[in-house]
Amino acid sequence: MKGKFIVFEGIDGSGKTTQINQLSEWLIGTDLIPENNQLVITREPGGTKLGKHIRSLLLNTSIEKSPDPITELLLYAADRSQHVNEIIIPTINKGDWVISDRFCGSTLAYQGYGRKLDINLIKNLETIATQGIYPDVTFLLDIPVEESIKRRINRKDDRIEKEGKEFLSNVALGFKTLSKDRKWKKISAINSKEKILSEIQSEIKQLIKNK
Ligand code: TYD
Repeated sequence: MKGKFIVFEGIDGSGKTTQINQLSEWLIGTDLIPENNQLVITREPGGTKLGKHIRSLLLNTSIEKSPDPITELLLYAADRSQHVNEIIIPTINKGDWVISDRFCGSTLAYQGYGRKLDINLIKNLETIATQGIYPDVTFLLDIPVEESIKRRINRKDDRIEKEGKEFLSNVALGFKTLSKDRKWKKISAINSKEKILSEIQSEIKQLIKNK
């Protein structure tokens, strides 16, 4: 049996890392994942060795000349293609579970709604890079843009985070629209850690039940 593929999306500072850690601790302690299978935690960009190089090209602020928007889009697509081939497909084919910090939704939100690149072009690249692999469930951790800025005040911004409030507001709108269109599970990420985890847990239990 194929393993499950779970994705977390959200604007910067939405707490994806914390939630992924909480969820994986809980999952490992349950019997939801079959006895001989594992849980693999991964991310985009940078889920593979090659992807780590691509990530630094994309996010480095000291780079002499930033990639133009289409180059940026192609680099995210290249990272995803490698990630799908090297990690996601082989893992779920073994029956193992994957949790990915970001996937296709981030490209639609950041490069589509943020950079205003053509959505159909992005969707075509998505088809190529994913080979038709889609998450079993996507969680959108939803926080107001002001909260994202507040939470990151003492953190050094990467190249994308430096884009500022208007860009981030467009990205946030993109995520909200996508969560409706693609039937993601939207979770208010300003609630307590415990409340957020319990919403995620019930969705995962539902996913297993519907199988
Ligand atoms: P992330 O790893 O979530 O940042 P951090 O480690 O700071 O939490 O994501 C890196 C950045 O890349 C983030 O600002 C969003 C951006 N991004 C895109 O613009 N397009 C994409 O397709 C992906 C996957 C990420």
